[in-house]
Amino acid sequence: MERTTRIAPEEIEHQLELCQRTAALTSSGPEQPLAFVDTYGCQQNEADSERIRGYLAAMGFGFTDDEEKARIIVINTCAIREHAEQRVFGNVGALVHVKRRHPELLICLCGCMVQQPHAAQKLRESYRHVDLVFGPHALWKFPEMVYGLLTQRGRTFELTDSPGSIAEGIPVVRQDSIKAWVSIMYGCNNFCSYCIVPYVRGRERSRKPEDILDEVRRLVEDGYKDITLLGQNVNSYGKDLEEPMDFSALLEQVNAIPGDFLIRFMTSHPKDATQRLFETMAHCSKVAPVLHLPFQAGNDRVLKAMNRRHTRDEYLQKIRALKALIPDIVLTSDIIVGFPGETAGEFEDTLRVLEEVRFDALFTFIFSPRRGTPAAELDDPTTREEKLARFNRLLALQDAISEEKHAAYIGRTVRCLVDGRSDDTRWDLTARTPGNRLVRLTGDASAIGQFRDVKITGANKWSLFGELA
Ligand code: 5AD
Ligand code: SF4
Repeated sequence: MERTTRIAPEEIEHQLELCQRTAALTSSGPEQPLAFVDTYGCQQNEADSERIRGYLAAMGFGFTDDEEKARIIVINTCAIREHAEQRVFGNVGALVHVKRRHPELLICLCGCMVQQPHAAQKLRESYRHVDLVFGPHALWKFPEMVYGLLTQRGRTFELTDSPGSIAEGIPVVRQDSIKAWVSIMYGCNNFCSYCIVPYVRGRERSRKPEDILDEVRRLVEDGYKDITLLGQNVNSYGKDLEEPMDFSALLEQVNAIPGDFLIRFMTSHPKDATQRLFETMAHCSKVAPVLHLPFQAGNDRVLKAMNRRHTRDEYLQKIRALKALIPDIVLTSDIIVGFPGETAGEFEDTLRVLEEVRFDALFTFIFSPRRGTPAAELDDPTTREEKLARFNRLLALQDAISEEKHAAYIGRTVRCLVDGRSDDTRWDLTARTPGNRLVRLTGDASAIGQFRDVKITGANKWSLFGELA
């Protein structure tokens, strides 16, 4: 496997210098200039936005959620499904009026959507109020691009197609003080036939273990209690390192960091989820008993057409092995309904997998053709109505399973992480079980940020209810 390119530390230092020069340019007025960062899509994008905020803070910006008050707007986009793109184009279109009122406003778009040539072209031609467009590979030089906009350059499109690199040392402004994302790798090599990710995020590349461990150590010192290791395919972590290591070894090292905290990780690919991983999860006390293991479809012909490189039986076999080691494992998965050519009978096979595994929760999607992926070229005779009908059957079955699984918690006392105030006013607080199930509970706000025993007194298909024990 090819070695990963790393951005030299001096390059990042240069970016930080440009942050200071930008601050000198924007801080001439009486008020602190404000930035609005809007994020679509997955946790990887959330993590990227935390670095964009880190850079913006170094440029002297404060933050706002009000477009009218912003000096700079950054929209971090997603390309995984058509719907995500339509929302971005709709919202960016509406910004034309904001820019008319505030001509000095800088509008920037980044992330996966803009890395697709057709989307970039549409922005170039029809969204002339957008000043800066840059793909995931260029994030590390965001300060240079903003500085350029403020000094000499006009509209900037930074969309070099690249296998990708790793940049360390970018400042981070985190959104939460209890839960944190830590990217351990970027990109994906799997090329599932429906998926745009490998085209826009480049090849798999891993951060060095010492950089990851340093980051987690600092988070734990800062009081973070719930740390999620992120990557498109975490189980292939480390193959590109100078000294290759596997994901299980990394988990063990993170688990050895002193402190009271939980470790989660996502996403895992079934073909790379091994017995060794399951054993590591079982013996590492800080690793939460939860696995997100997307299976996408329950039929072998469909799995093959999806280029998933595992069969239904291999998947089920792995789940059995995991349940044997960790009986109370919480399982979640992603499913695509209506992949081109999926027959009614093949869809039934997906339902059978749900019945056998009994997932705690699912993320379900209707197939969305992505330009440039092989699946977008396939014949797709199934009507939208039929796909919706399948989708609704899937939801109904999962709702019933989730409700039963949640009901089984009633009467138990579970050590949960209290993570905030409840938006539902009948309850004071929210908490998460180790398996990441949502609990709404009564109790005093002083418990926020602590692991506390919670007595579960009720449940529905979405969440559990309880009280501090
Ligand atoms: N259409 C529908 N769902 C998709 N996903 C990825 N690409 C597509 C697509 N083209 C889903 C998969 C993946 C999750 C993140 O998004 O289920 O696991
Ligand atoms: Fe997409 Fe498959 Fe990679 Fe996941 S593993 S990001 S679904 S190509």
